[in-house]
This record gives sequence, structure tokens and C-alpha cells, in this order.
Amino acid sequence: MSITKDSELTGMKKASEAVAYTLKEMRNFAQPGMTTKELDNFGGQILNGFGAKSAPYVTYNFPGFTCISVNNEFCHGIPSDKKILNEGDLINIDVSAELNGFWSDNGGSFVLGTDINHYQKLIDTSKQILHKAIHAIKGGVRINDIGFLIETEAKKRGYKVIKNLTGHGIGKSLHEEPSEIANYRDRYNFTRFKKKSVVAIETFISTTSTYTETLKDGWTMVGNKGGFMAQHEHTIVVTDGKPIILTEMNEIWN
Ligand code: CO
Ligand code: CO
Repeated sequence: MSITKDSELTGMKKASEAVAYTLKEMRNFAQPGMTTKELDNFGGQILNGFGAKSAPYVTYNFPGFTCISVNNEFCHGIPSDKKILNEGDLINIDVSAELNGFWSDNGGSFVLGTDINHYQKLIDTSKQILHKAIHAIKGGVRINDIGFLIETEAKKRGYKVIKNLTGHGIGKSLHEEPSEIANYRDRYNFTRFKKKSVVAIETFISTTSTYTETLKDGWTMVGNKGGFMAQHEHTIVVTDGKPIILTEMNEIWN
């Protein structure tokens, strides 16, 4: 969406506060021994407290309030009472929701407890690249130049990017134009970021895979060549200068 009046910015800030706070609290609540369903229910209650509705549930009939993906699962992991979290797991939580007609989206990967499996470098790389990408975005910048930045930074650090997952426009619904903000230079995308537009910028940094495949459950995505992936996502408003980071309070950069 494009922000045309103050009430729209206020609406986006409220929806963003709901998803950002939920993500932060879920990350703090996660413990070894807990199931991903327990963690999801906790997040669902927080969203409910804001009066916000889970976006994947409302939009796609997703079987959960949030997406919780663990270890070899890259994204869209289904919360399950059979999946128990362990010390050192690589966990990705993605929270998106609608509040009073405004939609916001954010996500982040983290290690549960002690990093016994050595995922932290992958996670830090994803965080740093998201920071760099977001601070390079302003009105008039080509979307594929940001894709190039993300891929170049990933390669420099020995990682790959996932090509079939992208950031996206957001605001009046979960996925809007521009529909594909890729993590590589898409030669056929000549679109530029527009001032006052709302977009969800997300990294998909991986150790070995460059595409994802959907498992038989119809949701969970894993890498085409296995390995691991880290994702970090903020919803932002594009300006002439530094973007307004609507989901900043999720503290994924801390
Ligand atoms: Co998301
Ligand atoms: Co998104």
C-alpha cells in the first residue's frame, strides 16, 4: 500500500506493534522441551490480546497462528504438538497479522539456548544483510539492486540465497505489489521502490540450497540441497531517506 494520510500510518504502526511484540515475546518464551504448538498458542494469545488476526490463518487457512520452522525446515513450518524444541535448535518464527484492516509481517531466526550446532554465524549474516539492505532502500532505488546487494553480501561471507522466496508489498493485505523483492538481481524486474509505499523486506540466507521445496504436508519448505537457512524480516515505509522500520520493536537486530 501507499501511505496517503496520517491515519494509515497510525494503522500500520499498530498492526506492526502487534506482530513485532508477538515475535519478541515468542522468542523469549521458547524453551527446550516445549512443543512448537505450545509456542504457537502463546503467540496466538498475544495477537488476540491486540485484537489482531493471524495473517496466514486468515489468508491461506494455514494450520497455526504463526509459522515455526526448526533446523532443516526453512519456512512455513506447521506448529505441532509432536515437535519438541531442543537446546541448540535453529528456530525461525514468522509472525504476520491483520489489525483494523492493516497488515504487517516480520520474522527472525535464532538459536535456542547454547549454540552447540554452530548456527550463529549464519544468523548474524542474515541480520547484518537485512540491516544493510533496508538502509539502502529509498524512493527510486531499483528493487533488483537491493537483490544484488543481498546476494553479493551473502556470497562474500560464503553463503547462498534462496531464489524462490521473496519480500513483498504489504499493508491492505498480506501480499501486495511489488510482489517479488528477490534476494538476487532479477534481470527482468525493472520496478523501483516508491516513496510512501509499505514493503516487507526479508532475507533468505542459506548454507547449501538455492531453492526450497514443499513437503507432503503442503506447507513446510525445506532446501532443495538440504542445509540450513536464516531469515529476518521487517515491514518498512519507504521514504526519501532512512526508511521507517515499523516492526523495529521485534528487536531482531539486538
Ligand atoms: Co513473514
Ligand atoms: Co513476508
